[in-house]
Amino acid sequence: MRPRSYLYHSTGRALSLFAFGKIDSVTNIFRPLSQPAQEIKETSFLVLVICTVIFLVVGGLLVYAIVRFRHRPGDEATEPPQVYGSNQIETAWTVLPVLIVFVLILVTSRTIADIQNRKPAAGSVNATVVGHQWWWEIRYPELGIVTANELHVPAGNEGNHRPTFLKLQSADVAHSFWVPQLAGKTDLIPNRENLMWIAPTEPGTYLGNCAEYCGMQHARMLLRVVVHTPQDFERWLKEQQQPAIEDANAAEGRKIFFANSCVSCHAIRGTSAKGVFGPDLTHLMSRQTLASGAALNSHDSLRAWIRDPQQLKVGCLMPNMQMSDKEADQIVAYLQSLR
Ligand code: CUA
Repeated sequence: MRPRSYLYHSTGRALSLFAFGKIDSVTNIFRPLSQPAQEIKETSFLVLVICTVIFLVVGGLLVYAIVRFRHRPGDEATEPPQVYGSNQIETAWTVLPVLIVFVLILVTSRTIADIQNRKPAAGSVNATVVGHQWWWEIRYPELGIVTANELHVPAGNEGNHRPTFLKLQSADVAHSFWVPQLAGKTDLIPNRENLMWIAPTEPGTYLGNCAEYCGMQHARMLLRVVVHTPQDFERWLKEQQQPAIEDANAAEGRKIFFANSCVSCHAIRGTSAKGVFGPDLTHLMSRQTLASGAALNSHDSLRAWIRDPQQLKVGCLMPNMQMSDKEADQIVAYLQSLR
């Protein structure tokens, strides 16, 4: 995995780094590392080149006309020669733009058709992404995995593209899934299922975000896609498929978690916690961030989150549970045992 430097900074400053810190290589549409982002870039560049040439020709003629035929002293009395109609010129400026527009239509529709008609093949991964205010639920129905805010996919290679197909849904309002280096944007619309796919070839962590205004914390609805080598992906699958570990050292915190209303919103596989309104916590500690990228997943931010989620992400749907310091420490100990 290619480390992104800001992720690995000392955790003490992690919160402020996440909010304001310098982030290298963020969401660069000019450096696509996956289909269909590559194909989209090529099409956009072709359109850009054609439009630039048109701009230069039209702009050049305009500047030429302004300079060459500008008003000169002594011009007042005479009118320039008047030209009424020229079949050749009129034909040229009708046919040429029509041809250019036709080429653009063909190229664009080919790219769109290419992207939309891709069908899952053997070896491809299927995942469902559900947009929530303000986090991403990620399910792998065939693999029995539920996680949040981090989509894990295998990398393909030249001979073997191994695409991941995504079903996009929304639990509340419209959101939009956008990881610029991997693919274009696709919206997540309530009561509707949209489809998209990615086929990255380079392992690494790719950043994305919600690209459709969805309420107060739209800006902190961040997303990361972790692209693994095939072996790493298999390992990740195996780990995620395990039910939650029961750690005797975290028994107190576990008791508090199950005695409170935590369980009505969160699920932990292998326990009686089956809530569906918040993120699945079965393997919480395997995730890099909390609150959909609002904070690094560290002991300190976990504790700050439990003490008062509204402090860390104002407006989020998790209420302040009014835990005492001691209870918060115990809950954090329990959550940190969910590896
Ligand atoms: Cu979800 Cu913006």
